[in-house]
Amino acid sequence: ITIRQATIEDLEGMQNANLTNLPENYTMKYYLYHLLSWPQASFVATTTDPELSHQDKPSIHYVKQDMQYTGRGEKIVGYVLGKMDDDPDAEDKTPHGHVTSLSVMRTYRRMGLADKLMRQCLYSLCETYQAKYVSLHVRKSNRAALHLYRDTLKFEVLSIEKSYYQDKEDAYYMKKDLVLSE
Ligand code: ACO
Repeated sequence: ITIRQATIEDLEGMQNANLTNLPENYTMKYYLYHLLSWPQASFVATTTDPELSHQDKPSIHYVKQDMQYTGRGEKIVGYVLGKMDDDPDAEDKTPHGHVTSLSVMRTYRRMGLADKLMRQCLYSLCETYQAKYVSLHVRKSNRAALHLYRDTLKFEVLSIEKSYYQDKEDAYYMKKDLVLSE
C-alpha cells in the first residue's frame, strides 16, 4: 500500500470511498476546489491491481468488483481531504488548516492507514501552508475516529456543536496545534 499526494485523477476514487464510508458527501466541484486551492493538503492510500502487475497499466478509469481504479491501475483504499480555512468571516485570522474528510475502506482498516494519512496531511498543512493549528469535526458516536484523533494524534476537544450533522447528531469540534520542524 502506497500513501501519496492526491491528484485530480484520484478524485473519482476518493469520492467513491467517501460515498461508501460516510454519510457526509460532497460535490465533485468541492473535491476539485480542495486540490486546485491546496494541492499538497490531500493524500490517498492506494494498492495496485495484482492482475495488472505484469501488464501495461490501462490509461482510463475502470470499475472492477465495485472498486474504482485510477488510470494507473491503482485502487483508492483511503483518503484524507485537507484544506486551509479560507472563510473571510472567520473570527480567528490565524492561518489554520481543516480536515474536511477522512476514510479508509473497511477491509483496509486497523492497519494504521488513517494515522499515516492524517500525519502526512498535518505535516503538509504546517510546512507548506503555514497552518498554526488544524481543526475538524467528528460525530460524538464515532469511537474509531475519536480514538484516532484524541488518543493517537492528540487533538483536543474545543467544543460540542449541537445538531451539527444533518441527522441532528452533535459534533466534537477538535483542534491540534502544529509546530514547524527544524
Ligand atoms: N475502535 C477503536 N479504536 C480504533 C478503531 C475502532 N473501530 N479503529 C481504529 N482504532 C484506533 C487504532 O487502534 C489506532 O489506535 P492506536 O494508535 O492506539 O493503535 C488508531 O485508532 C488509528 O488506527 P488506524 O488503523 O490508523 O485507523 P484506520 O485506518 O482503521 O481508520 C477511520 C480509522 C478512518 C476512522 C476508519 O474507521 C473509517 O474510515 N471509518 C469510517 C469513516 C469515518 O468515520 N471517518 C472519520 C470521520 S471524521 C472526519 O472525516 C473529519
